[in-house]
Amino acid sequence: AKEPVRVLVTGAAGQIGYALVPMIARGVMLGRDQPVILHMLDIPPAAEALHGVKMELVDAAFPLLKGVVATTDVVEACTGVNIAVMVGGFPRKEGMERKDVMSKNVAIYKSQASALEKYAAANCKVLVVANPANTNALILKEFAPSISEKNITCLTRLDHNRALGQVSERLSVPVSDVKNVIIWGNHSSTQYPDVNHATVKTPAGEKPVRVLVANDEWLNGEFITTVQQRGAAIIKARKLSSALSAASSACDHIRDWVLGTPEGTWVSMGVYSDGSYNVPAGLIYSFPVTCCNGEWTIVQGLPIDELSRKKLDLTAEELSEEKALAYSCLS
Ligand code: NAI
Repeated sequence: AKEPVRVLVTGAAGQIGYALVPMIARGVMLGRDQPVILHMLDIPPAAEALHGVKMELVDAAFPLLKGVVATTDVVEACTGVNIAVMVGGFPRKEGMERKDVMSKNVAIYKSQASALEKYAAANCKVLVVANPANTNALILKEFAPSISEKNITCLTRLDHNRALGQVSERLSVPVSDVKNVIIWGNHSSTQYPDVNHATVKTPAGEKPVRVLVANDEWLNGEFITTVQQRGAAIIKARKLSSALSAASSACDHIRDWVLGTPEGTWVSMGVYSDGSYNVPAGLIYSFPVTCCNGEWTIVQGLPIDELSRKKLDLTAEELSEEKALAYSCLS
């Protein structure tokens, strides 16, 4: 039998946490033959709610779930974890300045970085979900220098999956037949959902999405804005932000990272830029990646047209500004 994998979920008493922990305990993230021990962290005001989630995990009698640690102590939470999904953060409240929210999150990610660095298992893989996701991940990377930059990522898979969903609806094809969309850049409304390399499986072989949709106006306009603003549309409809889709996409992100992407398929992940596609090195930026043996690699050599170039640069600029703002909060 396989040894259990320890998975940390921070902010586990929140909305996404509530959707995510049962998925992990069912094997959606790491496979149906992989036992897991869940580590759940939240802050003291949420301690009772967190305890309630733990009770429900016990009540659900998940066969793969070999233990639950529910705590408000960051050291206990981080000790021995192999995978860390960072969902906890400080939300933007009405009337708050961007800088105030950034400052709260920088403080959180700085201290959690130190705890992960000291107490997590060697080679722990980190996924940051909490917003501003790219910049929180960058702060975590900076303050956990002994964790390889290869092991610190942020979630843009939800945006990626939203783009697949929009194409699937438009063409009335199963979403599983659509692949290789790309989310470039920030997990924010400046992200660039790119379909220039995306394809659909048809009885006559794989066809480019651009050919099948045959409507550049939609692809260059409404498609992009719909994906960029989907988060706001969900809030408007549900009066709560996306949770089940965020949790499901977080599982997709980790599963593909650990178990590998299928041959010929890439996915979007926020990763540390090495300067690929002329994206400034040193930003956490969403790229198309393939994964093999637990490592991601940026897909190289895709042609970037002029319209795309502008959009790649615009979202990089926003990330550079966020980085500067985050650093200004540190001093
Ligand atoms: P939520 O407010 O329901 O839950 C957040 C939880 O984090 C709360 O239980 C809170 O007590 C906890 N928390 C706050 N500070 C903490 C700390 N220092 N340590 C541990 N836990 C802490 O929020 P929800 O809806 O679950 O969203 C969580 C985050 O994910 C938000 O930042 C949201 O903006 C972000 N998000 C990101 C997405 C992405 O695609 N990257 C998609 C959807 C949401």
